[in-house]
Amino acid sequence: MNLTDRPRRLRTDGIRSLVAETSLDATDLMAPVFVDATTDERVPIESMPGHERVPVDEAAACVEEVRETGVEAVMVFGIPASKDAEGSRAWADDGVVQEAVRRISRETDAYVVTDVCLCEYTDHGHCGLLESDAREHANLTVDNDATLDLLARTARSHADAGADMVAPSGMMDGMVGALRRELDAAGFEDRAIMSYAAKYESAFYGPFRDAADGAPAFGDRRHYQMDPANAREALREVRLDVEQGADVLMVKPALPYLDIVRAVREEFDHPVAAYNVSGEYAMLHAAAEKGWLSLEETALESLLSIKRAGADLILTYFAEDVADHL
Ligand code: PBG
Repeated sequence: MNLTDRPRRLRTDGIRSLVAETSLDATDLMAPVFVDATTDERVPIESMPGHERVPVDEAAACVEEVRETGVEAVMVFGIPASKDAEGSRAWADDGVVQEAVRRISRETDAYVVTDVCLCEYTDHGHCGLLESDAREHANLTVDNDATLDLLARTARSHADAGADMVAPSGMMDGMVGALRRELDAAGFEDRAIMSYAAKYESAFYGPFRDAADGAPAFGDRRHYQMDPANAREALREVRLDVEQGADVLMVKPALPYLDIVRAVREEFDHPVAAYNVSGEYAMLHAAAEKGWLSLEETALESLLSIKRAGADLILTYFAEDVADHL
């Protein structure tokens, strides 16, 4: 037996971390925060253990708790006081996200990102204005071009409130360009755009839709979000967003789409974000609750794998817990 190449030599405790190819740091993580205009106390989100919807008054305190773990950035989602066909509370100056962001940016040092979409604000739960015959029409649910203007107004109002970065998540064609133009025209050239560039029509968003009360009242989102069968199309989607001025490119969900994370990493030089979504969080919690796997270890391994695949930053509901552990 003459074995010269023995990879096991580098797996002893003294050398393992020196030769580690990937590492995970609290500053790689971004924590989602849900601000709810319909409550004045914190409400636990049942399908996402450890997470809650917080009232506007507690938004800054909640972000401070995130910052204490070492996580520096948050993504703010809003649950409005009322909904209508257009989603007009999305761009209201006194809307839930606008009020929360004003306080968070005044009272904390967090880097504040806002989700820009209409699904939490429309009474039908779709991510934009409906085509007039959408309920009968099998294929067209959302009027793409009419929605762009509303998304742009929403993003400007978030910037006005103090958001550092806006993140359009509605998968409308041309949304990044529409936001960039509006922000620049309003003097917000310094605010960044993180595009949900390759966002799939995924069943892993289930718990989020409970949390943010944003499930579509009829139909589904497959006419605007991407088909899970497609990988080349993701590169095309991402390229369009790069051309329109996206600063950060997001792939969502993360774990079932690591091939896409890797492909985007290889094809583009922009920072790549991955969204470890609500279903990815909920399933580990459910299994851990049954005693079938270790929550801490599987969470850490998941996030490390997402980085190894090529993500620079990860949006995750595990942010605080994992950061505390790091
Ligand atoms: C809004 C939005 C969704 C998520 C983030 N932004 C829901 C959806 O597209 O249905 C999902 C996040 C998660 O599941 O954690 N469009």
